[in-house]
This record gives sequence, structure tokens and C-alpha cells, in this order.
Amino acid sequence: MEETVEIKEGLQGVYITKSSICKVDGQEGKLYYRGYKIEDLANYSSYEEVCYLLLYGKLPNSKELVDFTEKMKKEREISEKTKDIIRKFSKEAQTLDVLRTAMSSLSADDGKPYSDNESENIEKAIKIIAKTATISAAIGRIKDGKGILEPDNSLNHSANFLYMLTDKKPDKDSEKLMDIMFILHAEHSSNASTFATLVACSTLADIYAGVTAGVAALKGPLHGGADEAAVKMMKEIGSPDNTENYIEEALAGKKKIMGFGHRVYKTYDPRAKILKSYLDKIKGNSGGEINKLIEISLRAEKMMIDKLGKSHGIWPNVDFFSGPLYLHLNIKPELFDTVFASSRTVGWCAHVIEYWRNNKLFRPLEQYEGSVDLVYKNISERS
Ligand code: ACO
Repeated sequence: MEETVEIKEGLQGVYITKSSICKVDGQEGKLYYRGYKIEDLANYSSYEEVCYLLLYGKLPNSKELVDFTEKMKKEREISEKTKDIIRKFSKEAQTLDVLRTAMSSLSADDGKPYSDNESENIEKAIKIIAKTATISAAIGRIKDGKGILEPDNSLNHSANFLYMLTDKKPDKDSEKLMDIMFILHAEHSSNASTFATLVACSTLADIYAGVTAGVAALKGPLHGGADEAAVKMMKEIGSPDNTENYIEEALAGKKKIMGFGHRVYKTYDPRAKILKSYLDKIKGNSGGEINKLIEISLRAEKMMIDKLGKSHGIWPNVDFFSGPLYLHLNIKPELFDTVFASSRTVGWCAHVIEYWRNNKLFRPLEQYEGSVDLVYKNISERS
């Protein structure tokens, strides 16, 4: 007789562990990293400080932050082997595929990729965070047919990333905006990519294997690929006056609007609110094309909230407004998910380090509904 089991599709509503890294309050639309409100971190903190907070569980004092920032700078350079991997990919390759492969190669440069020592794993995490930004910028450069730039250690993480990508030192406003993009994407509890990271590392695979699994899981449009898909849609809409018709038709055709909806948030994603507030700030300084996309995004947001917000709990998520902001920073859509992955390395690593304190191999079950005890026939006897 078939056993009766309860299947939680997509592990919806299933708790996999205890954690003190991140709280997502999906009903109230609140997000905390290590107890600190995301709004405060976005306003007052820096990506380096947020990385320290996520990895060590407390905000650094001045000396700790200076030392940590220096450590991150020292780890920015990538090996010739990793650069060759990036160069060998054709310009047509998807950037996240290149990142996944290049990131996987980082373990080869570490004489001891696996460690059961927490301090050593924090050092590995710093390496991964710093080098992934360099890899991502290098991928963007190669895709554009340009040469890879060396890091500039006079600049902080965000400014250096923009410099390595664009060959221009950013102004203060762009540096701050890039920092905010990195901070808002740094961590988000047990989403699909973090879970993939944990699954890989629960086998005691090294932390590099874990983040590589995280990159793989981030790729799809239901997760890290949504921001690129959202901008693609805004471009398809073409003109602000076409927004409402487009959305109406898409919904009537049962299409999902990328950048809306969330497994946990049933209200406005607080990260999307922060990003929305930046649209106004950049409007005056952006070109006509970006301003048009901003107008389209605001009209789409209004319509979606009217139609599906309160009634269905489908609100803008972090991926909806990020596209126009990335474009303002001269980051092309094909690099969005790669930049997202660079930001998220810290969250993935913090979770692995925490999970290993009380590691348990992930091994869920499936309810088998196929046949058993079939008679094996020789191939010549099969119809
Ligand atoms: N547009 C239109 N309808 C939607 C949307 C959307 N963006 N999102 C959900 N719905 C509808 C579904 O069609 C479904 O309707 P139905 O019950 O009539 O079939 C219902 O809401 C439930 O949707 P599910 O996809 O089953 O819900 P789930 O909790 O699994 O979805 C998800 C979460 C995958 C994020 C979903 O909202 C979605 O696909 N959104 C678009 C992709 C996106 O923006 N992803 C980024 C998320 S944030 C991040 O990963 C960084």
C-alpha cells in the first residue's frame, strides 16, 4: 500500500535550519542583516562594512574596518589562469556561465580549498568576495572586446568595480549607488541560490564548490535573471504610453511580469522601495533612453499594484527597478546577474560558515510512484 506523505512543493514553508544572519519579514516588508535594518545599512554603511557584519556577526570598529578593507583590497587580483578562462570564452557566452567557470577555478589557486576552521573559511570568503568582483568586471570587459584592467587599490570595493569595468573612476554619486546595489544584493536568507550553496557544502565540499553551486542556481529568470528580463520587457514596451496595454495583454496571456512577486514577501520588497527612491535621484542625470525606462517602470509598477498588489500579494521585488539603475552606472543588461552574484558571494559564504557549525547532510526524500519488480527482457525481445 502506498505510504501517505505530505509533499511541500518547492520546499514552500519548510524551515531548513536556524540562522542569525538575516531576517526577512514577508508580511511587514522588513529586512534585517544581523539585526540591522536594510534601510540604515543602505543609507549609512558601505559594502565592506556590510561584508564584515555578515561574516563576523557584528559591526566593525574603525580599526577593524580599516584592516578588513585592506584585506579585501589585497585579495582583488586574479591569477593568469583565471584570466585565461575568462578570455577563452567567446563573446557570445552568457556572463553568468563564464563567472561560474572562473569562480570554480579559484579553488585551484588555494592550496587547501577545504577547511573545517572557521577563521580560515572567513579568509577564503574574503578572497571569494574580492576576486569575484574582479572576475565580473573582467567578464564585462572581454564581452565588450576590451582588455582586462587591474584593480585600483586607492578605490573602495564599489568604485574599484566600476573602474575595472568602465576604465573611469566614478563620481561620488555613482560610487554610492553602486555600493547600495552591492549592499541590497548581499544577502537574503535561504533563497534558491543560498540553499544550493548549503546543499553543496553540507557534503563537506569546499566553500568554492558551494558558491559555484550558488551561481548556477542564481541563473534562472525566477531568481537572479529577473532584473535582465524586467529591463528587456521595459524595452519591449518601448514607449511609456504603451505600458498599460502591454501589461494588460501580458497578464491576459497568463505571462509573469518579471520583477514582481516573491515567495516570502507578500507586500512591497523593502529593497525595491529603496531602489525606487533612487530613480528620482538619477532621472536628471541620465540619458533620454534611461529616463524613458524609468517612466515605463513607474507606470508598470502602479498598474501591477492596482491589479495584483493587495488582491494577490504580488508586489515589486528587488529586481524590478534595479535595471535602469544598473544602466545608469553603465552596466549592461547581460552583466546584471553576474553583478548580483558578486554582491551575494558574502551572503552565501556567511551561510556556509554558519551551517558548518552544526552540519547535517541535506538528503530529502521523494515519494516514488513508478513501478517495481518489472521483468527484465533482453533487447531483442522488446517491442
Ligand atoms: N506576474 C504575474 N503573476 C505572477 C507573478 C508575476 N510576476 N508572480 C506570481 N504570479 C502568480 C502566478 O502566475 C500564480 O498564479 P496562479 O495561482 O493563478 O497560477 C501565483 O501568482 C503564484 O505564483 P508562483 O510562481 O507559484 O509563486 P511562488 O511563490 O513560487 O513565486 C516567484 C515566487 C517565482 C518569485 C514568482 O513571483 C515569479 O515568478 N516572479 C517573477 C520572477 C521574479 O521577479 N523573480 C525574482 C524574485 S526576487 C529574487 O530572486 C532576487
